[in-house]
Amino acid sequence: MLHALGSATPDPIIRLMHAFAADPRPDRIDLGVGMYRDEAGGTPVMAAVHAAELRVLAAQETKGYLGLAGDPAFHAAMRDLLLGEAASVERVAAAGTPGGTGALRQALELVRRANPGARVWMSAPTWPNHPALVRAAGLEAVQYRYYDAESGGIDRAGMRADLEGAAPGDVVLLHGCCHNPTGADLTQGDWSDLAVLLDRRGAVPLIDMAYLGFAEGPQADAAGLRLLAAALPEVLIAASGSKSFGLYRERVGCVLAVCADAGIRERAAAMLATINRESYAFPPDHGARVVTTVLADADLHAQWAAELEAMRLRLARLRAALADALRDASGSDRFGCLKAQRGMFSLIGADPAQVERLRAEHGVYLIGDGRINVAGLGEAAIPGVARAIAAELA
Ligand code: LMR
Repeated sequence: MLHALGSATPDPIIRLMHAFAADPRPDRIDLGVGMYRDEAGGTPVMAAVHAAELRVLAAQETKGYLGLAGDPAFHAAMRDLLLGEAASVERVAAAGTPGGTGALRQALELVRRANPGARVWMSAPTWPNHPALVRAAGLEAVQYRYYDAESGGIDRAGMRADLEGAAPGDVVLLHGCCHNPTGADLTQGDWSDLAVLLDRRGAVPLIDMAYLGFAEGPQADAAGLRLLAAALPEVLIAASGSKSFGLYRERVGCVLAVCADAGIRERAAAMLATINRESYAFPPDHGARVVTTVLADADLHAQWAAELEAMRLRLARLRAALADALRDASGSDRFGCLKAQRGMFSLIGADPAQVERLRAEHGVYLIGDGRINVAGLGEAAIPGVARAIAAELA
């Protein structure tokens, strides 16, 4: 029977990750997959996370099953971290998931069960796994204009015009912060305009929050999401612990459904538990327990926040240094927007042939759409990478 399978389309990010690993050149540079890296190119376990893991191991007496939605203490910790006071506890249903990708998948399945005809509006461009997840959930994916390549900012008029086409019960997928792949984020004014538009159209936002803390810090990065949660009857959030806690392979994620009232919340919570049951039964616990421990303890929380802030500041320094080096190497200001963009990713405006030459001739790995992960740059590598980019994009 399996001979009838078509060929699976490899995800471009994962394909590049494997190509990088297989390349024997010692000085090759990985600007591909979205993992934070330090100056030595490593992705160490955060000290607060390590300390929390030791506590979890010392205190844990059982690994018996929890509920289908995972640990309520984890839900509460994530709810407080993301929503603060923006939505009352009675309005928020939650379920643990394997990573932020799992959260997106479960959120989309929840949408399908509530409204199988929903279209899911995605920014152009977006993370390549977004349309794949929407299709896997059996929903229709449509695009709204978002990135203005000329300015490196947002095409506000295009975005507004396209989202005016959203129907009641459609879903609008938004990046909570650190837009992937452009680094061009919505301002607080944009979020507030969006709240008005979504309310008028009766469309429901689904916010992918994978990089909390990497743009302006956890509080500021959650501000847009909180604004929507306070203004709208329904908001879906897919949160990840991969980047903000460095727990990538532990698969820490959480879907939060902000509902119109406590009665709907009950139904959403029960359906999320059922969807987990029908997918993998129980979500993974270890990483979620570590996150809960970090967030619940004042000292660990402060230590985590300081480590996250150091990572954020390093990204901002790398962005500025790369933008300056590119200006010097190219003699043009076209890369100046790298400084204003936020998080790990930016598009450098390379076409697939230029991306291929950067890989083959310079050992610089970036995604085929021209996305770079600035965290993959060591300070020492910046001048060489800038010269390579300037040479190929001239
Ligand atoms: C990325 O965009 O590189 C990350 O979100 C990792 C992934 O799973 O694609």
